[in-house]
Amino acid sequence: MRVVHVVRPELECVEAFVGGAAFERKLPALPEPTRELCDRSDAILFGSVGLPQYNGKPLPERPEYALFLLRRDYELYANLRPVRVFAGLEEASPLRPELVRGLDLIVVRELTGGIYYGRPKELRSVGGIEEAVDTMYYRAPEIERIARIAFELARARRKRLTSVDKQNILETSRLWRRVVNEIAREYPDVALEHLLVDTAAMQLVQRPGDFDVIVTENMFGDILSDEAAILTGSIGTLPSASLGERGSPGRQYGLYEPIGGTAPDLAGKDCANPTASILSAAMLLRHSLADEAGASRIERAIERTYSDGLRTAELAHGGAALSTDAFTDAVIARL
Ligand code: IPM
Ligand code: MG
Repeated sequence: MRVVHVVRPELECVEAFVGGAAFERKLPALPEPTRELCDRSDAILFGSVGLPQYNGKPLPERPEYALFLLRRDYELYANLRPVRVFAGLEEASPLRPELVRGLDLIVVRELTGGIYYGRPKELRSVGGIEEAVDTMYYRAPEIERIARIAFELARARRKRLTSVDKQNILETSRLWRRVVNEIAREYPDVALEHLLVDTAAMQLVQRPGDFDVIVTENMFGDILSDEAAILTGSIGTLPSASLGERGSPGRQYGLYEPIGGTAPDLAGKDCANPTASILSAAMLLRHSLADEAGASRIERAIERTYSDGLRTAELAHGGAALSTDAFTDAVIARL
């Protein structure tokens, strides 16, 4: 928020509780005033949800439910997760630096379908035996619209699109692949490849630099985007945007959040890396407020902060580390 206010002092930013912060106040995961505020706003800059004390509880009693509802109710089906390795951070990657130098890919994850939302979804008892079911379900139009977003992005980038599925086993994946191939005819300038999800997981560490845009269904995208994220050495640097149909290009309604989720072990210690949140705000300016200039200004300030050698603890490898606040000050100084 501090960074956004330097770039756009006139923006009205109002805070509201969700998830664990709402539970602590005896409110549901997504309290009504929070939802109303989201309704009235141009975009949502989301913190993170998830706390160990709620593990094992049914979904509506877990902080994640807030995200589940916001994504579903605003139909934020297009989740963009850019993965970049900043100059100077190659050594932080678990892979050899030469494999990740200049890495710049984007995972386009379908976010409102698939096994997360398909029905039936329940835990039940049949003849005294407990069983559970989740359903992977896709309708062709859901695949078409996410495929178009991915092709458009690829067209504006290095014109390579990798579609990931599990068509050797899953019906939803066979439909996925067929629909993606149909849409591909509208984009002859984009080179399309299909990978099975297990192969994709492997190749992402073998040849990460070959990927440009990766498009995949909800759960595969959840898993692959964490794998792609850690190629950068810290999951604390990666932002995301979740967009839907509301609004117009550049003025889309959206939810913006760090992809890494919460880090309860770091809470209150002023040492978490704010990069993912700051870059999420940059994405918000770009996609919801038609402010490309503001977005790039923030992104360049982050790049400079890293190229000047400044680091938060998880990237400092025992060297000098800045606190969350001090790192944020350093970014602001470079805006
Ligand atoms: C993510 C997260 C969420 C998801 C959780 C918090 C529900 O892992 O955004 O990737 O699985 O979608
Ligand atoms: Mg995830």
